[in-house]
Amino acid sequence: MKTKDVQKLYEQYVMPTYTQVPVCLVKGKGARVWDLEGKVYLDFFPGWAVSGIGHCHPLVVNAIKEQARKMLHVANNFLNVKQAELARVIVEASFPGRVFFCNSGAEANEGAIKFARKYGSDTGRFEIITMKNSFHGRTLAAMTATGQEKFHQGFQPLVEKFRYADFNDLESVRKLVNDKTIAVMLEPIQGEGGVHVASRDFLEGIRKLCDEKDMLLILDEVQTGMGRTGKMFGYQHYSLEPDLMTLAKTLGGGVPIGALVVNRRIKREVFAPGMHASTFGGNPLVCAASLAVFKAIKKDKLLTNTIRMGELLDKEFEKLKAKYPVIESTRGVGLMRGLKLKEPAAPYANEARDEGLLINATQGDVLRIMPPMTVTVKEMRLGMKILENVFHKLQLKKKEGCACSNH
Ligand SMILES: Cc1ncc(COP(=O)(O)O)c(C=O)c1O
Repeated sequence: MKTKDVQKLYEQYVMPTYTQVPVCLVKGKGARVWDLEGKVYLDFFPGWAVSGIGHCHPLVVNAIKEQARKMLHVANNFLNVKQAELARVIVEASFPGRVFFCNSGAEANEGAIKFARKYGSDTGRFEIITMKNSFHGRTLAAMTATGQEKFHQGFQPLVEKFRYADFNDLESVRKLVNDKTIAVMLEPIQGEGGVHVASRDFLEGIRKLCDEKDMLLILDEVQTGMGRTGKMFGYQHYSLEPDLMTLAKTLGGGVPIGALVVNRRIKREVFAPGMHASTFGGNPLVCAASLAVFKAIKKDKLLTNTIRMGELLDKEFEKLKAKYPVIESTRGVGLMRGLKLKEPAAPYANEARDEGLLINATQGDVLRIMPPMTVTVKEMRLGMKILENVFHKLQLKKKEGCACSNH
């Protein structure tokens, strides 16, 4: 089968919900992936941040193999060793709490929203403040929580009573609080929104505000979690703990798993048996894979590597910015980085792909670059060389275009 044949099957049988590129990836190892025709790419946006510890990490692959031989799935009304162990590992890496398992980031956020609604139901509070430019997923409540009109178009009426504040503007959050507000929900770094890092004053200010008003602080760590920023969770860069934290993406190392972690500081029992559930959530297979992800992060010292490689990337970006004025700013933390351009970013991502480097364009003019945490100096240098070539080529083209149109 060739890529063309796969495209034909898609045209006939797969719902076209994604803007797809004509590349069919069939193999991955670490920071590299191969397409059907055997072309190799350096993957600096691995699986939309799912393959955060690289593709097919051997510890994850072996854990899956071993678990698959024993038991793939067990209903959640039975005890499940792997789920219990994984909950303990997540809690030990974050804060005293308890975990609900599901299958995706949207579903984890959906759980957090339901939890907040239930928490507020005794006092008649149900409004949730989220941020403009945020991204929380595509299910109806998670999509409504997402503060971007373009994702809402055509799906109205939306879930009621979400209000949208300006990211990094504490006053705008404060203004939206009323006697019906139950929670504030946000990403420590907005990913899809263009790699915007929450300032210390902003996030810690929201924590204080939530404490004053008995509101829940929900942190969506679906993208920032599991080491991406150089700490296991993004909130650990700040002096605070969330009440609720949601995880997915790298949590499973490539298999679908999501989690809602609820802090023990919430003293009341909010979800009683039967109030929330997921048939697949936290089955032995995905929990075994996720336990292996935690093991890999520790064994391979991936947090340290993320910090080191993040610093290297930052330096390289600054050099690139000095050379190419089309780059307006560089931003991000650890290995979650963005380059804001003064023109559309998609041509750069497309050219990079042709040259063998996978990166992402978001919000029209931001290039999002998130190498796996296992990335080596050599791979980083190669990636930067390709990126530099891409800037060189596209800027040259532009100049030539200008020169032509002047004649
Ligand atoms: C911060 C954040 N939250 C939630 C989601 C949704 O996750 P999923 O696609 O697994 O539902 C995403 C996906 O990109 C995300 O970046």
